[in-house]
Amino acid sequence: MSRPMTYAMIGGGTDAFIGEVHRRAIALDNTAVLVAGALSSTPERSIQSAKQLGLCHDRSYGTYQELFEREQARQDRVDFVVIVTPNDTHFPIAKAALEYGFHVVMDKPSTHTSEQSQELSELAIKQNLLCCVTYNYTGYPMVRQARAMVRDGSLGTIRKLIIEYHQGWLATDLESSGQKQAAWRVDPSRAGLGGALGDIGTHAENLGSFITGLEVDSVYAELNAFVPGRQLDDDASVLLKYKHGAHGVITASQVCIGRGNGLSIRVYGDQAAIHWNQESPDELLYTQIDANTMTYTRGGPGLSSDAQISTRIPQGHPEGYLEAFANIYRGVVEAIRTKRDGTPETALSQLIPTIKDGAQGVQFVERCVESASKGCSIKF
Ligand SMILES: NC(=O)c1ccc[n+]([C@@H]2O[C@H](COP(=O)([O-])OP(=O)(O)OC[C@H]3O[C@@H](n4cnc5c(N)ncnc54)[C@H](O)[C@@H]3O)[C@@H](O)[C@H]2O)c1
Repeated sequence: MSRPMTYAMIGGGTDAFIGEVHRRAIALDNTAVLVAGALSSTPERSIQSAKQLGLCHDRSYGTYQELFEREQARQDRVDFVVIVTPNDTHFPIAKAALEYGFHVVMDKPSTHTSEQSQELSELAIKQNLLCCVTYNYTGYPMVRQARAMVRDGSLGTIRKLIIEYHQGWLATDLESSGQKQAAWRVDPSRAGLGGALGDIGTHAENLGSFITGLEVDSVYAELNAFVPGRQLDDDASVLLKYKHGAHGVITASQVCIGRGNGLSIRVYGDQAAIHWNQESPDELLYTQIDANTMTYTRGGPGLSSDAQISTRIPQGHPEGYLEAFANIYRGVVEAIRTKRDGTPETALSQLIPTIKDGAQGVQFVERCVESASKGCSIKF
């Protein structure tokens, strides 16, 4: 039996959003144990958060630099590092982690520029380390089912993708209230080039690529900032042309009053279509030409092996966001074992999103911003 893996978290202090989601997802399968952290932007708050999470005093670090230096020197150094800080800090933290020899799991958008993501990708290869980017929606069993069905030809040739990610939480000037998640997301120096485009448009782009395997050829984007004073878009509409002829539409908006996390994808082939919606994630609708729509259900009959290995409990008991996130971490741990112990690659490890996908997401943002400013379509 190998010992359970251990991890350190950078960011994700007790006042943060996504760090806690990562911790819960990892704990769901007990894939790894949190033993170290540099959890906040100031040493005092980092130590305070570490205390609240019950970390040992000698592994509660004030800064990420201190964490990497001291963890590297330990016999029982952590197996991997999870980076859940605001976007502007991802690149220096991930670069340092890889240089110190730690496997990395980082949240999206991976970096501010696609060159930075490319640099991380090359560094990870050079160091033989994993660099995963948590495009967590790829962890849903029925998204994996959709991918398997596109790949086995159940839709025929893909013609059209319609991907929507709509939220309403930035429909007002929330940032002025001091709400921290809103404040950094509307600040270009912290969020990067994209507002809604970078925050949720990158999830939409990644979902389309993951399911269909299609590569984007060009984009034509319109970006709006509806809330006065915003420097970044809070609403994005993008027309995409894919290589081999398919077309797509991505609409990503954070001013859609009443919407929570309305992520959905429709893929139309010349033989059939599929529709998946994040807010009913256990169902995948499938319609063949001249036939009634049928519903594939998580845990039900006729599913692909990728969907089956990504599910835990029987059909009818709902699974959701945390389980999908946890599926990414199951793949991460298996991918690290492959690199560390030379064990064969597993089906789950082959499904995890990497920094290559991260680079593609950042490139998508860059090309859309260029397109919107020039008013023309931009090649990838
Ligand atoms: N995958 C998803 O669905 C998803 C969802 C939400 C957020 N995210 C991404 O996760 C990241 C964090 O988002 P959030 O909403 O949790 O932000 P947040 O503001 O709630 O939390 C950020 C945390 O990072 C800490 N931090 C900042 N600088 C630091 C540094 N130098 N060292 C250590 N800690 C530092 C802050 O103190 C805070 O604890 C962003 O990149 C965001 O895009 C992804």
